[in-house]
Amino acid sequence: MKHHRPRRTSQGPWTVVLVCAVVTCSAAGVSAVGCEDQRPTLEPTSGEGGTTVTTTSATASVDKGEELFSGLIDDLMGACGDCHDAGGFADTPFLREPRYESITSWPGIITKDPQESLFLTYSIIGGGHSGINLDSDALKDTLLPKILEWLTEESKAIADVPDEQKGKSVDPFAPIMGFNAVYLTDIDKTLEGMAITFNANELTPSSLELTKVEVHTTSKMGIHMVHPLFSVYPKGGDPNPDPADSFSNVDQYVDFGQSAPLGPGTLILTNWVQGGKLQISFEAIETYSSSDPDGGTDGGPTGGCKDLDSFNANAKASFGQCLGCHGGNNGQATAAVDMQGLNGDADVANACAQIRNRVNPGDPPNSQIFITTDPNGNAAHPYKFNQNQGAFNTFQTNVSAWITAEQ
Ligand code: HEC
Ligand code: HEC
Repeated sequence: MKHHRPRRTSQGPWTVVLVCAVVTCSAAGVSAVGCEDQRPTLEPTSGEGGTTVTTTSATASVDKGEELFSGLIDDLMGACGDCHDAGGFADTPFLREPRYESITSWPGIITKDPQESLFLTYSIIGGGHSGINLDSDALKDTLLPKILEWLTEESKAIADVPDEQKGKSVDPFAPIMGFNAVYLTDIDKTLEGMAITFNANELTPSSLELTKVEVHTTSKMGIHMVHPLFSVYPKGGDPNPDPADSFSNVDQYVDFGQSAPLGPGTLILTNWVQGGKLQISFEAIETYSSSDPDGGTDGGPTGGCKDLDSFNANAKASFGQCLGCHGGNNGQATAAVDMQGLNGDADVANACAQIRNRVNPGDPPNSQIFITTDPNGNAAHPYKFNQNQGAFNTFQTNVSAWITAEQ
């Protein structure tokens, strides 16, 4: 199978520097003093005899994105809804209700450069899409121009990333209210498949809680990250970094084959703005490995599964349906959760260890393997049991018997 989720690999030549948005900060209920004191890395460095700081090009007052979307949603549902609504033929329901939230938080649809949107790189002739394409005769003069106008408007509302964060940050993205997996692949190809995962929950219109913030490495390579900083990108506004700089002390090594909480594993952003985006930057981010993975032990440094017998008896067969992507054919899927060991039982212990990193023995239903594949859920994973809830339920029941045994 073709790896059909292209991601940006390079960043445009943005030339803009961040201004510490004290106004936005105090508007969110945080004292301006705290705002200034706690964000040293993002203070504008004032030049001799004055400031050389430029503001971002995003204009604060204009937000026509949602309005333009309302104007095209009927056409879009008509052309794409049968497959991309909840329960549709495709397992990628970016048009499920609430539609505007779903489509804008689906990875790769809203991009800083509209031409890099999956809509214009994938659902076009020659892009690899199996459904109707936006540049087909039926749509190229009707829906496509509206989509272009809308994507352009959305991208204008995304502020530029500060120069000093370029190459060390993930592009701004709209968090899903629920489970998110943020891939680090775009920072550097060597980080393919590594991700930061978390659950997002809006506590109030101006505070966003992230829980279970975890780092996931691949079965071959680990990661070293220093000082991750989450910034809020209000629509049409300037970037506004976490006022508490919550992860300023993080200098963390996570070995290959492992997953670990990022710092304390939770974060509350008191500068959240509804409809905004998040961006994550790092002071340093690089691959790391305690040893040559090929010479390592089965299952990697975690020690792997505690109850391999239960995995074999209850769970192993259920993962057959995942192997089309996680068994080696899809690079990012395999790097994220490497199930190649299940191909002909080549190395079941290793595959089990990989899957083990995505389960929650104390609370099996909240395991990532379920949350991300549930046809009823809103996670942005490209396989959801072909929208067959019964098949998902069977999977969950069988695999949970093993997950409980991992306690
Ligand atoms: C007949 C069903 C069908 C229709 C209609 C359809 N699609 Fe799709 N689409 C799919 C399937 C199936 C996939 C999964 C990958 C594949 O097979 O291309 C997909 C995948 C996609 C993806 C990639 C999502 C991801 O993250 O992997 C995009 C973007 C997309 N479609 C856009 C559209 C747009 C825009 C329309 C309407 C103009 C549309 N599709 C209409 C079946 C359809
Ligand atoms: C159509 C291809 C495909 C199939 C089939 C598939 N996955 Fe995935 N999976 C992916 C991709 C691609 C990623 C990386 C995520 C991304 O690029 O957005 C991924 C990532 C994941 C993750 C990491 C968290 C996340 O959501 O990113 C988990 C857990 C996961 N898959 C579980 C499963 C399980 C369990 C199955 C089988 C029941 C399965 N996948 C079947 C393509 C697939």
